[in-house]
Amino acid sequence: MGPLELLFSFSLLHLCATQVTPVFVQTGTDFLLDVKEPVVLEEADSFKWTVGSVNVVRLVHGGKPTISQNYTSRAELSAQNHSLLLKNVQKRDSGVYRASVSADKEITVAEYSVTVLDPVSGVKLTVKLCSSDSTKVTVICSTEDSLISNTFTCDNQTCSHEGGERAEIITPGASLDVYLEHGSVICNHSNQVSSTRDIQKIEDLCGTSKDNPDKITLIVVAIVVSLVVVLAVIGGFIHHRRRKPKKAENMENTVYEDPQ
Ligand SMILES: *[C@@H]1O[C@H](CO)[C@@H](O)[C@H](O)[C@H]1NC(C)=O
Ligand SMILES: *[C@@H]1O[C@H](CO)[C@@H](O)[C@H](O)[C@H]1NC(C)=O
Ligand SMILES: *[C@@H]1O[C@H](CO)[C@@H](O)[C@H](O)[C@H]1NC(C)=O
Ligand SMILES: *[C@@H]1O[C@H](CO)[C@@H](O)[C@H](O)[C@H]1NC(C)=O
Repeated sequence: MGPLELLFSFSLLHLCATQVTPVFVQTGTDFLLDVKEPVVLEEADSFKWTVGSVNVVRLVHGGKPTISQNYTSRAELSAQNHSLLLKNVQKRDSGVYRASVSADKEITVAEYSVTVLDPVSGVKLTVKLCSSDSTKVTVICSTEDSLISNTFTCDNQTCSHEGGERAEIITPGASLDVYLEHGSVICNHSNQVSSTRDIQKIEDLCGTSKDNPDKITLIVVAIVVSLVVVLAVIGGFIHHRRRKPKKAENMENTVYEDPQ
C-alpha cells in the first residue's frame, strides 16, 4: 500500500466514523430520526432502532413493529420509511440512536447523536457605570447562573468594545455574549436549541441611570401638588358652605351695628 493509498483509506475511515449526525432537541419536544435510504427486509431479516445497547423498536420481515416497554406510547416507527419519531423527549433520552438491518451481517442505515437540552434562561442587561458624558458605558449581562460585563467607549454614534470580564459559571453548551449593533447593546444567551436576548440603546442605558430619579421626583411632586390643590379647593368649598349662614349673621350684625 503506497502512502497515497494509505492516506485515502484513512480519510475513508474518517468519513465513516463521522457519519453520526449530531441532533439537538429541546426538552419536551418531539424528534424525528430519518432513515435516508430505503430499507428492504428479506426473509429472516430484521430491523431495529437502538439507543446505546437498548432496543427502542424492532421489526422482523413481514411482521409488525415491536416497541420496547420503556417507549410504548412515546415512540413510533414509520411503516413507509422506517424513521423513528420519539415524543416529549427528556434529557435522559440523549444518546446515540442507530438504525440497523440484521441480515447475513449487521448494517447500520442511520446514526444520530442526539442531545436533549433545556432552553436557555432569560437575560437582563443593566448599567454598572456610565460616564457623565455618556461616552463610556459598562454594562452587565446576567442570567440565572452567570454574568458577563463589558465596557464600551462611545464617540457620538459609534461605540467600540473596550474590554470586560466573564464570570465563571455558565450552563454547559450555552453561550453568553454582549456586543454592539447599530448603537444598541445586545446581550445574547443561546444554546443549540434556543436563544434569549435583551437589547437596549446606549443612550437609554445611560438615560435610565441618570434621568429616572429626576423623572420620578417630578412625578411625585406633580401628584403632591395636584392633591394639595384639589384638597384645598374641596376644603375651601366645604368651609365656604358651612360658613355661609354665619356670614349672613355677621352681615346682619354688621348691618345692625353700623348705625351705632
Ligand atoms: C427503562 O427505564 C428505566 C428508567 O429510566 C431504566 O432504569 C431501565 O433500565 C429501562 N429499561 C430498559 C429495558 O431499557
Ligand atoms: C418518513 O415518514 C415520516 C412520517 O411517516 C415523515 O414525516 C418523514 O418526512 C419521512 N421521511 C422521509 C425521509 O421521507
Ligand atoms: C458629536 O456630535 C455633535 C453634534 O451632534 C457634534 O457637534 C460634535 O462635534 C460631535 N463630536 C464628536 C467628537 O464627533
Ligand atoms: C445569539 O448568538 C448566537 C451565537 O453567537 C447566534 O447564533 C444567534 O443567532 C444569536 N441570537 C440572536 C437572537 O441574535
